Amino acid sequence: MAISSANDPVRVAFIGVGAVTAYHHLPGLRLDPRARLTAICDAAPALLEQRRKEWDVPLASTDPEEICRSPEVDAVVIATPNDTHRPIALAAARAGKHIMAEKPLGLNAGEVRQMYEAARDNGVVHMTAFTYRFAPSMRYLKHLLRSGALGTPRHFRSQRFLDLPETSWGWRQYKERAGAGDLFDMTIHRIDFAIDLLGPIARVCGAVARFAPRAQTSDGRPCPPSDVDDWSSLIGEFESGATGVWEGTTLAKGYHRDGFGHEWAEINGSEGSAVYRLHEPNTILLGRSGQDLAPVPVPSEFLKPEASPRDPSQGAPATVFRYDLMWEFVSAIVERRAAVPSFLDGLNAQLVADAVLRSHTERTWIDTPLAKP
Ligand SMILES: NC(=O)c1ccc[n+]([C@@H]2O[C@H](COP(=O)([O-])OP(=O)(O)OC[C@H]3O[C@@H](n4cnc5c(N)ncnc54)[C@H](O)[C@@H]3O)[C@@H](O)[C@H]2O)c1
Repeated sequence: MAISSANDPVRVAFIGVGAVTAYHHLPGLRLDPRARLTAICDAAPALLEQRRKEWDVPLASTDPEEICRSPEVDAVVIATPNDTHRPIALAAARAGKHIMAEKPLGLNAGEVRQMYEAARDNGVVHMTAFTYRFAPSMRYLKHLLRSGALGTPRHFRSQRFLDLPETSWGWRQYKERAGAGDLFDMTIHRIDFAIDLLGPIARVCGAVARFAPRAQTSDGRPCPPSDVDDWSSLIGEFESGATGVWEGTTLAKGYHRDGFGHEWAEINGSEGSAVYRLHEPNTILLGRSGQDLAPVPVPSEFLKPEASPRDPSQGAPATVFRYDLMWEFVSAIVERRAAVPSFLDGLNAQLVADAVLRSHTERTWIDTPLAKP
């Protein structure tokens, strides 16, 4: 396993240098004095060359295996299309590299289990990029729950409504490459943070639907139509007895909100309610019986990880908390501890997401026990 000493920076490789790497992981890494970008990889040679120059990286390759074998790399961030996560993660684990992989970790729970077991058995740090766990109001919501301020949690409610163009989503719109549509792209995050907040989900009843054919690219060229969902939903029962309702769509006209869309996640407890909203992540809505929900600023200790040098007053609040994923990944490596959320968390969310698809096909409730570590 690659081990950095206290003074050596963790040498990170980005595998897949498309949208999410540029938007989340590069700014996160640049903020972290404990880490250095030593390699990049992408299947598209022109993009790879552009990033190599822009980001001033010594090693660039179109071959993930070459990056995984490199002695100049301690850790990889996998941000490629979903069907490629598993082979790249297995190669990285075998080579003893720490791994942060984007969600969904794989195309189904069988793939994800292999990834988790390979990382666990090779003793590397493994992390799933479940971004919204890092939002300040989400961190505060968890604290309020744990401290008992909301009483016994009874209901969880999640809405993720995007107003996206109805043109092609590229690789994302094909089951073979993405596994599923809105369910694996968006709702899976909300399944993860619901489990993080309220504990295991015992069973779910789910439904998905597809409305937009997406048979044209944004510049008007024809392409094969989408075969994945653009609306996903589930109801669930937590082991604790609480109930959950989730809905996600990419077709919510009028919910554009500068591209961030509408996100609302709420807990109703016996003593009070609390709401996280993505577009205002530094404020939480709180209410007790007989009152109306009212905004309350998130206390400063929840705005960023304690030791992170990030200044939470800088940048767009709905963007900058995403940089904290990289902080957590590097912290886990430097502190020689497990990262949170781990591949096991990625597997547990995947088991529920897979159950939604099965429930829809079989028109029935599905039990969703947690995976064994
Ligand atoms: N955590 C989040 O909030 C979040 C947000 C966006 C995307 N994602 C996830 O990140 C991943 C990437 O999404 P994106 O929006 O950056 O996609 P993207 O299409 O913009 O970028 C993917 C890149 O991977 C490259 N690639 C494809 N196959 C490859 C291979 N075998 N080896 C190396 N490179 C390869 C492509 O050329 C492309 O540049 C997906 O799994 C997606 O679900 C997560």
